[in-house]
Amino acid sequence: MVVSNRLPYAVERNGADITVRQSSGGLVSAVKSYFEKPGAGGPQFEQKIWVGSVDTSREDWQEAVERGALPADTVIEPVFPDRETYDQYYNGFANGTIWPLFHYFPSITQFRKEHFTAYEKVNALFAERILELYQPGDVIWVHDYQLMLLPQMLREHLPDASIGFFLHIPFPSYELFRLLPTPWKGALLRGLLGADLLGFHTYDYVQHFLQSAKMILKVETQFNNIQYESRMIRTDLFPIGIDYQKFRDALLNDLAARISTSLEQKFMGQKIIFSVDRLDYTKGLSYRLEGFQAFLEKYPQWREKVVFIFNIVPSRAEIRSYADMRHRIEQQVSKINGKFSSLHWQPLIYRYNHLDFEELCALYQSADAALITPLRDGMNLVAKEYVASCLDKGVLILSELTGAASEMGEAVLVNPTDAEEVAEAIHTALTMPLTEQRNRLSLMQRRLAHYDVHHWINDFLESLGTLKTVQEKEQ
Ligand code: UDP
Ligand code: G6P
Repeated sequence: MVVSNRLPYAVERNGADITVRQSSGGLVSAVKSYFEKPGAGGPQFEQKIWVGSVDTSREDWQEAVERGALPADTVIEPVFPDRETYDQYYNGFANGTIWPLFHYFPSITQFRKEHFTAYEKVNALFAERILELYQPGDVIWVHDYQLMLLPQMLREHLPDASIGFFLHIPFPSYELFRLLPTPWKGALLRGLLGADLLGFHTYDYVQHFLQSAKMILKVETQFNNIQYESRMIRTDLFPIGIDYQKFRDALLNDLAARISTSLEQKFMGQKIIFSVDRLDYTKGLSYRLEGFQAFLEKYPQWREKVVFIFNIVPSRAEIRSYADMRHRIEQQVSKINGKFSSLHWQPLIYRYNHLDFEELCALYQSADAALITPLRDGMNLVAKEYVASCLDKGVLILSELTGAASEMGEAVLVNPTDAEEVAEAIHTALTMPLTEQRNRLSLMQRRLAHYDVHHWINDFLESLGTLKTVQEKEQ
């Protein structure tokens, strides 16, 4: 049983119409690959179920199921929180408290009791549904920061169950984590310790978690293991990979090739820089635009010879900090275009929309450079997908504050807040000899092909299986 707040498909009602679209974000991309094409060699299961929440009404979801509008590739078990509770859980505690705090934005973190109460309620609702579905022998894999209380809620009823948890965002240093009110930080840590295996993207995140557990719960740790309530719990790093082959196969996809060719024709004689992110303050979008502006100022010879295709995917639009940001970014885009455009050329192409897979791949394939500069990111899959999609050219400019940076040393690494450094990096990328581009790409591609999403899933599930065997022997 895979459990996450976000399901792979979102149902939207427009009048009498029901539409279904794929959800955005790294978690869905990764877990969906597991359902689409299980990797060879890993643990095999008779059935896989994805439990997640639905933020439309039960009736709309039911109608989509009855009309056959939901793809049949995944068995989905939806949880239906009521609207107000969902709002306080999702927009409130998950994305108003944990998301900003864990991404090092304490100044915009909210600490509201009713949000925490809703978070407990929705986690309990998930627990209830999972307990109804659970069969002895099942493996339960809980994902991400929206469900940190869930492992313990399950453990209370299923003392012997195999429960794993993976955090897709950074676990912050103790100095940040301790800002949470005492009852909440204890509850979150105890919640996580309901799992047998806790996975993180990087070594630092593991260490931060262990330190918080030691300081707050006074637990004993031995290397990466925690002794807690007579159970040995393991924490480890499992850097998430991508479905490498899917992006390589897309190089042969006709539709992607057509879009890519038309882009190259349209921007003939110009270098293409590209980025795609959910609209999120952690992604460093405003600093990125400043860096691009600094580049146009410092290197006027590049004007009319470069275009930056800047794609923003709508996200969490009901939260004030997100909605305000859209307005700010759009103003900044039009300022840059107003300042540098000529009659024949516009430096920035801005889009605010979801992208189809083929369109995304076409952009990855035709871009001469990708400018991926989050202020903080647990991993960043877009960086990996871009590198996987490059055939014989392409330079990744990547923020050193992403989890991905620790695995992609051949990228041009930058501090995202330093506009001058970003401007230099763009110049370096656009003037890099093709042989060097290919050398750097092939080193990264080899790593991405080896440690792909299937490897990630198998590695996690195998570690969980081994751990359970050890626990059983010790009893
Ligand atoms: N993506 C998407 N819809 C889009 C554009 C991108 O689902 O319109 C995918 C993209 O392919 C990638 C994921 O969203 O797999 C973004 O993951 P990342 O780790 O870069 O950032 P996150 O959004 O999870 O913070
Ligand atoms: C990040 C989080 C995921 C989340 C995704 C999209 O990748 O780690 O848990 O699903 O962003 O955000 P959303 O709020 O739309 O689910």
